[in-house]
Parts: sequence; C-alpha cells; structure tokens
Amino acid sequence: MKGNEELIVVLNTLLKEELSAVNQYMVHAKMYQNWGYGKLHTAIRNQAFDEMNHAEMLIERIILYENTPTVTNINMLNIGKTVSDMIDNDNNEEIGAVNSYHNAIRFARSCDDYVTVDILTRILISEESHLDWAETQRNQIQQMGIENYLLSQVETSNE
Ligand SMILES: [Fe+2]
Ligand SMILES: [Fe+2]
Repeated sequence: MKGNEELIVVLNTLLKEELSAVNQYMVHAKMYQNWGYGKLHTAIRNQAFDEMNHAEMLIERIILYENTPTVTNINMLNIGKTVSDMIDNDNNEEIGAVNSYHNAIRFARSCDDYVTVDILTRILISEESHLDWAETQRNQIQQMGIENYLLSQVETSNE
C-alpha cells in the first residue's frame, strides 16, 4: 500500500525519537539499579519497553507503506548525572514526544490518513502517561526534598 511520502518522513522522524528514548531510558534504568533505587529502575525500564512498542508500531506502519524504516539514526541522548537531572531530562524528552505526536497527528489528519491518526493517538496516550509520571516525580522531589524522595525509591530488585 502506498502512503503519503511526507507522512512517511514524519513517521521516520518519530521513529528516531522513539529509538533515542529507548536508549536513554535503558541507560537511566541501569543507573537507577546500580544505585539501588529499585522503584525508579522498574518504572523507567517499563517506559523503555513502552518506547520500544511505539517504535514497533511506527516500523509496522512504514513497512505497510512499502518503505524501509530508518533505524540507524538516533538523536543526542541526555543522560543525567543525578537522579534529579535524569528525571528532568526524561521529563523534557516526554514534553518533546507529546509535541511531536500532536504535530504528526495534525499532519496525518491533513493527509486524510485516519488509521495513522488512530495509531499516533494511541501512542500519544502512552506519552502523556510518561509525562504525567515525570511531573509527579518532580513534584514529589520539590515537596519532600530529594533525600526523602530517594529513600522512597529504594526497593530490592532482581533485574
Ligand atoms: Fe514513545
Ligand atoms: Fe515516552
């Protein structure tokens, strides 16, 4: 099936952002685990898997349109040095993702490609939940202080 060429470019750009997020979150998840923050490790590891699922949905759509997905490019990663910076960087990543999906949905709608609109909207729902999670962590750090917050994130993990 042929798709709109410009829309395929947009889908490949989203794919690049998803693959970047997978990498950033995998590294952050392992840093959290290394420091013994089991709850943060589990939360971000699960988000990395969500981003991989998003990448898979985009790849499937690009292949359906008889194109080859670009999986060799990623953006510059923002790996934090402290828990607070890592959460801020991931928060920024999610703000970017929500914006990108809003723009992409608008463009897909202008192409009358309503199935792509539906797929992108399902991903947007997931990105909003990631953004909400990051905002909650930032609020908790602000309200209880970083030390109390970090204490609340200690949990044994077998991963
Ligand atoms: Fe994503
Ligand atoms: Fe996300």
